[in-house]
Amino acid sequence: MKQLFEPANIGNIKLKNRFVRSATWEGMAEESGHLNDKIFEIYENLSKGGAAAIITGYAYVLKDEQPSPRMFGAYDDSFIEDYRKLTDIVHKNNSKIILQLAYGGSMTWFNVGQREIWGPSAVLNKISGVTPKEMTKEDIKTLVKAFGESSRRAMEGGFDGVEIHAGHGYLLNHFLSPNFNIRKDEYGGTSENRARIIYEIFDSIRAHTSKDFPVLIKLNCSDFMENKGFLFEECKELCKNLSEKGITAVEISGGPVFRAPKTEKEPTKQVTLSSKESYFSEYAKDIASEIDAPVILVGGNRSVEVMETILNETQIEFFSLSRPLLSEPDLINKWEKDKTAKPRCTSCSLCFTPEGNMCILDREKK
Ligand SMILES: Cc1cc2nc3c(=O)[nH]c(=O)nc-3n(C[C@H](O)[C@H](O)[C@H](O)COP(=O)(O)O)c2cc1C
Repeated sequence: MKQLFEPANIGNIKLKNRFVRSATWEGMAEESGHLNDKIFEIYENLSKGGAAAIITGYAYVLKDEQPSPRMFGAYDDSFIEDYRKLTDIVHKNNSKIILQLAYGGSMTWFNVGQREIWGPSAVLNKISGVTPKEMTKEDIKTLVKAFGESSRRAMEGGFDGVEIHAGHGYLLNHFLSPNFNIRKDEYGGTSENRARIIYEIFDSIRAHTSKDFPVLIKLNCSDFMENKGFLFEECKELCKNLSEKGITAVEISGGPVFRAPKTEKEPTKQVTLSSKESYFSEYAKDIASEIDAPVILVGGNRSVEVMETILNETQIEFFSLSRPLLSEPDLINKWEKDKTAKPRCTSCSLCFTPEGNMCILDREKK
């Protein structure tokens, strides 16, 4: 029987257990994207709290494009020193750390009107009200290179790997979605064409880093949109192709935001009642059975019992959590001592605040 608390590897990253902190934007970095004592303290606590690996909040790869305030930056070499300090703190506490890289695109409310926002096509994003500028092929080249260069900075800064954020309605997710990508060139049309930018980013990261530097990707198993979007069958195909290309792991989420899917909208899958917890498990299970790369399941992981069952009944190997660790950074240690410990997090999603993202229960204390 496989155990949650046993060593396991994601590529060449040796993990002490199967728990990962899923990327969580804190909104507490400096305005320039540089790190500060508050950020170091948060990661110190997380790394002492038991998760075998921590994926950072999303970092912006181009200086002029920042989807949210006070996120990590990755757009020039001035970050390498900050990264070394951060990764040292985490490594001293026997945890691993992965830098998440993103381009926001039209899923943004930050400084809109004051900067150029790119998209695959100039299609209105009804959630944010932003219509992006359709990227030229030159823009695509610039972005692909920026992901590569940011990954090189991550490697030089001591990160154990990078994760490409291709879910949750951000730019790469929009490239995958025919609702937002109506391009007529080789980056639009067929699902293979819509995924092309992701393959190019992967190749660029490989070209800018050592050949065994871990590269993970976070994807929506489906966009769960009424008018289709990126579909599960396409996600599966993309995961297979990326696995064949040598992606280190795939983290399966769903979109456009992190909420349980309205299952009746997705004819390919029925989500059972138990998957309200660990709510993308049916999708991740299917993907994990078809690819060699390890699968990390994110979204609603709240009990050891459910995760243990998934671990032993499927080929999903890792579990990542965001909101529960925002509330209790040491939840994994608590679970190691007592499998039945109930997380303080109730998934209320009230953790977003202008002062930074934190559990509402801590905010009420202040
Ligand atoms: C405050 C907050 C910030 C988040 N920031 C990111 C992020 O930077 N990148 C990302 O991929 N997902 C981000 N997420 C989504 C989480 O990684 C995760 O996919 C989602 O919260 C579901 O997992 P959970 O049920 O364990 O919270 C964020 C979630 C929250 C609550």
